[in-house]
Amino acid sequence: MEMTRLFRVLSDATRFRLLRLLTREELTVNELAEATQLAQPRISNHLKILREEDLIDERREGSWRYYRVEREKLSPPARVLWPSLEQSWEDDSTFAPDDRRLEAVLSARHTRSSSQFFDELAHRWDALRQDLLGEAIGRAILRAFLPEGLVVADIGTGTGYVLELFGNRPRKLIAVDHSETMLELAREKARARNLSNVEFRLADAEDTPLKEGEADVVTVIQVLHHFERPERVLANLARGLQPGGILIANDFLEHQELWLRKELKHHWLGFSRDRMAAWLADAGLELVGWEVNPGHAVPLENGLKTRIPDAFTSVARRSRGPKG
Ligand SMILES: C[S@@+](CC[C@H](N)C(=O)[O-])C[C@H]1O[C@@H](n2cnc3c(N)ncnc32)[C@H](O)[C@@H]1O
Repeated sequence: MEMTRLFRVLSDATRFRLLRLLTREELTVNELAEATQLAQPRISNHLKILREEDLIDERREGSWRYYRVEREKLSPPARVLWPSLEQSWEDDSTFAPDDRRLEAVLSARHTRSSSQFFDELAHRWDALRQDLLGEAIGRAILRAFLPEGLVVADIGTGTGYVLELFGNRPRKLIAVDHSETMLELAREKARARNLSNVEFRLADAEDTPLKEGEADVVTVIQVLHHFERPERVLANLARGLQPGGILIANDFLEHQELWLRKELKHHWLGFSRDRMAAWLADAGLELVGWEVNPGHAVPLENGLKTRIPDAFTSVARRSRGPKG
């Protein structure tokens, strides 16, 4: 482009403002209108001229058209001129209102593209969150609610699920199990997490594993179904609680999944709420909380599916000594 034509294009104040903005950012007509407070048709006319003179580039994305000055693509005379123009724009405060509005335009664009991104992600998020984050955050949040300094006893601790759940917040965590191998794995978990508050007890839950009033909280998670007389174990554990102490039990609701009897040695095919409430009451515990976690189908290696039954978590408070 000849110098004279270049100067003619630049001599228009509006075009000058548009070129300045498009040197800084790639923008749509809408965005230019917001930044300059000029009408869109007027801007479009000027953009047409700037495009004819090869001063700006146009890029299409979906139904949007974006414009910008690509320094490398400018004609040789314009390329010579541009650094001086940019220098003069830097020092010129008359453009400050355009700059302020441009900031707002870019910030709105960011918010818009961010919310669009999350709109698209929404349907995949639950599965992705499970893959990326697992249960660790849920556990940490739960832990945050646990008062410090309690004595928690976990009966049938297995490989130490509650060690992960409660961590070092309890003053003492008594982990009871009758399987040496389970306890060894739980010990490894405690070591890996630097937990020094855990006392491991190799003991039979049916043989009074806790001293009278020893614990503030007793948890018995996926264990009751193994006992022939769960009500006796509950009464026994209730004695191990402080008055006002809490027993948290998790197990399956009544179900017909016979494979659990065969494969995992379940003695009971779940428990109803009424049965649990009665047993807890007989143990001197008042049922104060009940939550049901729906079961789900799981695929088997042979291509068939089986069902994990609905489970419950009961919370009961020791109000008095057990009956008898
Ligand atoms: C299904 S696992 C559950 C482990 C753990 N509570 C959890 O939720 O991951 C059952 C655990 O109870 C223990 N257990 C079963 N009967 C027991 C008994 N009579 N005394 C002590 N522990 C017992 C088993 O050794 C096993 O570790």
